[in-house]
Amino acid sequence: MTLEVKDLTISYGRKTVLKDINFKIPDNTIIGLVAPNGTGKTTLFNALIRFIPLEKGEVIIDGVKYSNASKDIKALHKKVTFFPDQAELYDDFSGYEHIQMYRDIWNKKERDIDGIIDRLNMSDYVMNKVKTYSLGMRQRLCFAMMIAADTKVMFMDEIMNGLDPVNVELVTSVLQEIKKDGKIIIVASHLLENLDDYADEIYFLNHKDVYYTYDRKKEVDEYVKGYIKHDDVKDILPLPEGTMYLANNRVCIPTKDMKKEEVFHIMQRLRTLSSDSVSLGPLGTNEHYLRIYKGEQAYEES
Ligand SMILES: Nc1ncnc2c1ncn2[C@@H]1O[C@H](COP(=O)(O)OP(=O)(O)O)[C@@H](O)[C@H]1O
Ligand SMILES: [Mg+2]
Repeated sequence: MTLEVKDLTISYGRKTVLKDINFKIPDNTIIGLVAPNGTGKTTLFNALIRFIPLEKGEVIIDGVKYSNASKDIKALHKKVTFFPDQAELYDDFSGYEHIQMYRDIWNKKERDIDGIIDRLNMSDYVMNKVKTYSLGMRQRLCFAMMIAADTKVMFMDEIMNGLDPVNVELVTSVLQEIKKDGKIIIVASHLLENLDDYADEIYFLNHKDVYYTYDRKKEVDEYVKGYIKHDDVKDILPLPEGTMYLANNRVCIPTKDMKKEEVFHIMQRLRTLSSDSVSLGPLGTNEHYLRIYKGEQAYEES
């Protein structure tokens, strides 16, 4: 299965938010969708699932094109779910009833609801009415509803919002499990380091487009990553070519031309210059984010 988007353009009135977007996603894939607030992540989901009509472009699943015609949209909604907005939950129904409803709408009679509830640690509250739920409890319910619907394509908008660290871990591991059933999952999230735990590829939205993508499996060059104040940079010069000095004083130093002792030495130096953690590894979503949205700082006097 594939999800393909061609030349997708969406505007609100005269304001174009997404312009000529193209991508193609194979199955067994989780894509992390990353961008600052107001860039167009939710708009992209709304367009793909056709809560707003396509202004221009095509959405193709498994070679089948889904136009704005209502029969196409109906067929599309059999294959795709969008993480339900918390505002769409019914206060006077229980979590259990919500999960049941999603399972039944998508006709997944074989889905074991109790298993889902158990897996998501919801048994102590799922029979209570939704109006008694906290933000994080509602969030887990929305996630459980999608798992019950069990569609091949899933769009999840900010699913980690409001979850405590234990539940972030829980949702992360469930995502990794369900992806193996041949799914295509797009997750918009601001938890950048967490995305590195489960996303296969990251799409950064910028300038109305999928501006930069990176495949974590192909990211092999290792960097020494740490923090250093601008005034201290002179103490570790010269830095090798390809060094990135990012916002928040984040520094990433490529190690590919270094001997082991040099790598060790530079890590020690960074540790003495800053109390923040120093690590060795490939660039992560966090570093790409800083580079794309905040730019690089100069570290040498020119
Ligand atoms: N229904 C709407 N009408 C007009 N403008 C909208 C609407 N929804 C979103 N926008 C605008 O589109 C841009 C992208 O919003 P959105 O897709 O919600 O971004 P994100 O999900 O990345 O935070 C923002 O400038 C927002 O103000
Ligand atoms: Mg949004």
